[in-house]
Amino acid sequence: MATTITITGAGGQIGYALLFRIAAGDMLGADEKVRLRLLEIPQGMAAAEGAALELQDGAFDLLEHVEVTDDPAVGFDGCNIALLVGARPRGPGMERGDLLAANAGIFGPQGEAISAHAASDVRVAVVGNPANTNALIAASHADGVPAERFTALTRLDENRARAQLALALDAPVSGIRRVAIWGNHSATQFPDISHATVDGRPIETALAERVGDVSAWQETTFIPRVAKRGAEIIEVRGSSSVASAASATIDHVRDWVHGTEWTSAGVVSFGEYGVPEGLVSSFPVRSVGGRWEIIEGLELDEWARARLDASVAELVDEREAVRALGMV
Ligand code: NAD
Ligand code: LMR
Repeated sequence: MATTITITGAGGQIGYALLFRIAAGDMLGADEKVRLRLLEIPQGMAAAEGAALELQDGAFDLLEHVEVTDDPAVGFDGCNIALLVGARPRGPGMERGDLLAANAGIFGPQGEAISAHAASDVRVAVVGNPANTNALIAASHADGVPAERFTALTRLDENRARAQLALALDAPVSGIRRVAIWGNHSATQFPDISHATVDGRPIETALAERVGDVSAWQETTFIPRVAKRGAEIIEVRGSSSVASAASATIDHVRDWVHGTEWTSAGVVSFGEYGVPEGLVSSFPVRSVGGRWEIIEGLELDEWARARLDASVAELVDEREAVRALGMV
């Protein structure tokens, strides 16, 4: 049987970059047929309908069906995987948290529609910003759907971190593993290399040979570069990241469904590493049997703990802000 995938905001930039890769089998594999539901608001319908015509013209072997709708009941009907992309992107000079008021209203009704109409095995990946808190809102409105099925995309941050490490080491990105992203998909996030390896060797040892003082390099170069990469992209290209975001979304879902030993994702906290229960925070995770598990027992020194706490404090503030708006 085919997998039904709902893409909200399918008429937007990331939607356009996602659809054809999903239809080509990049997300679920070359043997898995897919049915696509393109969910938009009325203003976005024409763009989504145009994308649907192009999907037809792609003559994808794996693509069984495409439906374009602005009705969430239709869009989420029988959905196995929901990619919640539809939301306003930020512009120059904005932080992602500035989108809270504009976008938070989207995710409560979508959580309700998922609860009412999606398949019982539904998995949700929130891409629309601020992704962690939007995932929290959607989960809190989805009665009967386990909270751990709602996730927020921080794989883009992990991919950015691995790419920066590869550049610093002049090494292929494929050899770089066990980089962790902690906290919020925001400028406070903590990209953590203390457990990372390059070709099986501790990455901090390899970095010391290149950059000298690894702690100083992390503080002044690596962490700001990764955490502010979204803003850098906006500054350089005039609008926020698209193809890299779509690619990371595909990585996130592929690893969730097919399994991985180590990646990072925004998942609901059950109190791991002292992160308050119920927050959607990024953690290092593995996927086993189609479920994310937070990788527990990693050492966090005082400096790392302070970095994680600062990002979690921001998530707590965001939760308070949406509570004040009556959205959770
Ligand atoms: P875009 O403006 O090109 O597209 C957004 C689309 O969403 C539009 O077509 C719009 O009509 C649609 N939309 C708005 N409200 C909707 C709703 N209620 N239901 C369905 N569709 C709706 O924006 P984009 O560049 O595709 O970015 C989308 C979101 O993804 C933004 O919030 C952006 O900040 C975020 N983003 C997140 C990451 C991440 O790593 N988490 C990375 C890049 C972008
Ligand atoms: C990104 O990280 O590129 C996205 O979250 C878009 C943004 O606003 O930074």
